[in-house]
Amino acid sequence: MNIERLSTGVRGLDELIEGGIPRGFFVVATGEPGCGKTILCIHFINQGILENDKNIYITTEESRESIINQAAQFNMDFNKAIVEKKLIIIDALMGGDDPWTLKSLDLEALVNKIIEAKKYLGYGRARVVIDSISAYWLDKPSMARRYSYFIKKVLSKWDFTVMATAQYAITTGEAHGFGVEHVGDVIIRFKRIIRGGKLCRFLVIEKARQTNHCLYAHEIDITTGQGLIIGKKLEVRKEDYTLPRYIYDRIISIKKKEVKNFDHSSL
Ligand SMILES: Nc1ncnc2c1ncn2[C@@H]1O[C@H](COP(=O)(O)OP(=O)(O)O)[C@@H](O)[C@H]1O
Ligand SMILES: [Mg+2]
Repeated sequence: MNIERLSTGVRGLDELIEGGIPRGFFVVATGEPGCGKTILCIHFINQGILENDKNIYITTEESRESIINQAAQFNMDFNKAIVEKKLIIIDALMGGDDPWTLKSLDLEALVNKIIEAKKYLGYGRARVVIDSISAYWLDKPSMARRYSYFIKKVLSKWDFTVMATAQYAITTGEAHGFGVEHVGDVIIRFKRIIRGGKLCRFLVIEKARQTNHCLYAHEIDITTGQGLIIGKKLEVRKEDYTLPRYIYDRIISIKKKEVKNFDHSSL
């Protein structure tokens, strides 16, 4: 079966996922702040504008203007797309008075607003970004799975391919409200490290249903004019597969104790 795939608009990313995101999929971009999740979403929407898709961007952490200004730095004209009825940015942060704002973080209101926006934009293939989806369950992370399942179910009926961002919980090692990672069809995980005194960012495709995706982490680069670009494959380093010395020593000492205490008469 030939799967229709939507380009992400990020140079080097489509190649990691067999050409793009299958139409109708629910993509989750997760990771620490400042790694490029919002910028990935901006590329995804800009690609939709270039391909004449219907595009909707829900922003919960930045204002509509902030998204437009960030896109402009990468030579993407979101104002023009709004005027041409190719894009609606729903502002769920600032609580203004225009029709495309949301005054509270209520999931049903969100879904209704997205459907209203789709009707306004018209029939056809559509992309929606929810940046961030975890904002909807910050005070009730246990609801993450149920909420994301609900969103996925409703939006797939409206011909949407969804890209949602989720904050990363350092404590649990999973996206905040872990359920979203199970419901997501594609998980793009952003990570950051300090190497040689410099902030290095990279991403890895942790999951992509129906896709023979790349298993390697890749460096990412963000620059004015170009936006997000996938760089080179991360080299395998010793630290990637060896345990820290103190853990290694503990394992050895436990093993030694086990051998010493072993009851040979039981043989
Ligand atoms: N014009 C630019 N040139 C270079 N780097 C930029 C530019 N604009 C944004 N960035 C980088 O992108 C980061 C923000 O990325 P963003 O996608 O908003 O992160 P998040 O993962 O929190 O959504 C900034 O911290 C900065 O490092
Ligand atoms: Mg962001």
